[in-house]
This record gives sequence, structure tokens and C-alpha cells, in this order.
Amino acid sequence: MLDSETFVPQATADGSFTFFSKEFGESFHSHYGARQESFLKFVVPTQLARQANRPSLRLLDVCYGLGYNTAAALQTIWTVNPNCYVEVIGLELNAAVPQAAIAHNLFDEWSCESIQILTQLAFDREVQTDRLTAKLFIGDARNSIQLLRHSRFQAHGIFLDPFSPPQCPPLWTVEFIQQLSLCLHEYGFLATYSCAAAVRTALLAAGLQIGSTPPVGRRTPSTVAAHITRGVGNECTTFSLHNSFTLSETEKQHSVSIFR
Ligand SMILES: C[S@@+](CC[C@H](N)C(=O)[O-])C[C@H]1O[C@@H](n2cnc3c(N)ncnc32)[C@H](O)[C@@H]1O
Repeated sequence: MLDSETFVPQATADGSFTFFSKEFGESFHSHYGARQESFLKFVVPTQLARQANRPSLRLLDVCYGLGYNTAAALQTIWTVNPNCYVEVIGLELNAAVPQAAIAHNLFDEWSCESIQILTQLAFDREVQTDRLTAKLFIGDARNSIQLLRHSRFQAHGIFLDPFSPPQCPPLWTVEFIQQLSLCLHEYGFLATYSCAAAVRTALLAAGLQIGSTPPVGRRTPSTVAAHITRGVGNECTTFSLHNSFTLSETEKQHSVSIFR
């Protein structure tokens, strides 16, 4: 990790800001819109507005970064159901990233409660309120996920948001995605912005079913995954991936051909 790396806010097309990582040679978000990306590539595909009707929800934010995905999730859930009790685990390598987001006031457009929560999470790594328990694990996500596995954490929504596969290959391996699938609740959804064949193949190899979500700010779709066993008779049958997010024939052939 570059100890001295400083993060300078860069505007994106929806008016929200992101950072550029010199270490990974990549922007933290799409230049089409950082905030919009959190809602459309992560919160909508994990169906949190619908899932918020539960009394409680658990979220796993892999590569927490500035914290936008968690902020978008909390806003969505509590708009639908202010009484939903949310448990959030964030995994992030570099504590300086969420702290820089707070220092640069990047959450000015979000609610006061979100700013308070994200500030406390960035600096104290833990937040407890009457409707939230949140913890930020600083370190390599490959190690942090082992702790979660031991605690039997089962997420209703997993956001998989590393830098791209060429820049951050360790977090796109079958082994790591298998660990994530073991932390995914039987009725939960995992969302990622990537539609790379190798990533989809890893999701399939981890025993998940996959679907495409509509393109946001680019021509290619993102990917959503869930357990295959979310079966007949359960509460989510009508929201199966096949109904919500279909793969085109080309996408199916592409994922399967790499699989061979
Ligand atoms: C694309 S950015 C994530 C953006 C973030 N989700 C947000 O909403 O702001 C990728 C993040 O992954 C973190 N990262 C890189 N390698 C990691 C690792 N091995 N374990 C955990 N986090 C890692 C980086 O520090 C960076 O914050």
C-alpha cells in the first residue's frame, strides 16, 4: 500500500465526487456518476427496497472505499422501512480512503444521519444506533472474510466492488468468490459491476446462478447472483433471477464456453 497516497476529489457526471488511486491506476467509480453507480449497480440489483420490508437486514460491503454503496443502501432501506434493523460489515484495505471522503465533505448531498454514521465508521470503525450495527474491517478482504465465515454472517445483500480484474485480481478469484457465496443468505443477492466472463464463471463455479442488470453509463451490463436453491415455495420465488435479470443467449454461451 502507498502510505503517502493522498486522495483528491474528482467530479463525475452526476455531480458526485470520486477519487483516483495511483496505487491501482484506476478511478474508484465510473466517471458517468459515482453516486448513481451505487444505487443502480448495487442497491437496485440486490433488491434492497423490497427486502427492506423485513424487520432486519444484513449487508456485506466488499471494498467499502468511500462508503457510497453503504450510504445508498441505508438511505434506500430506511426510506421504505424506517424500522428495519440493519447490520453492515464493510471490508476495506486502506483506512485513509473512507477518512479522505469525510475530510473532503463528499457526503454533503446525503442526509445528516448518513454523514454521522459514515464519519463514525471511517474513524472509529464501529457504529451502534437503535437501528444499525456497522463495523468496518480494515485489512485485506481475503483475511477479513475468514473472520466473517467463522461468525456465520449471512448477508441479504453483498456488494462486490473491487478495482477491475486486471488491477485487483485477488478479489475476483473463484476461491474468494466462494468465500463470499458462503456468506450470502439463502434469499440474498450479490451484485457486482463486472460482466467479465471470468468473473461470471467464478460466480457459477461458486454454485450461484447469475443474471444481467441493465447497463448504466456504458453499453455492457452488470451482474447479479444468488443461490440456486432459493426454491419453490419460498418467499422470494417471484423474484427469481430468471424473472428479474435475464442473460442474453450470447451472454449465456460466453459464460459457459469459458467454463469448459
Ligand atoms: C472501486 S473502489 C471501491 C469503491 C467503493 N465501493 C465506494 O463506494 O466508494 C475499490 C476499493 O477496494 C479497496 N481494496 C483494494 N484491494 C483490497 C483488498 N485486498 N481488500 C480490501 N479492500 C481492497 C481499495 O482500497 C478501494 O477502496
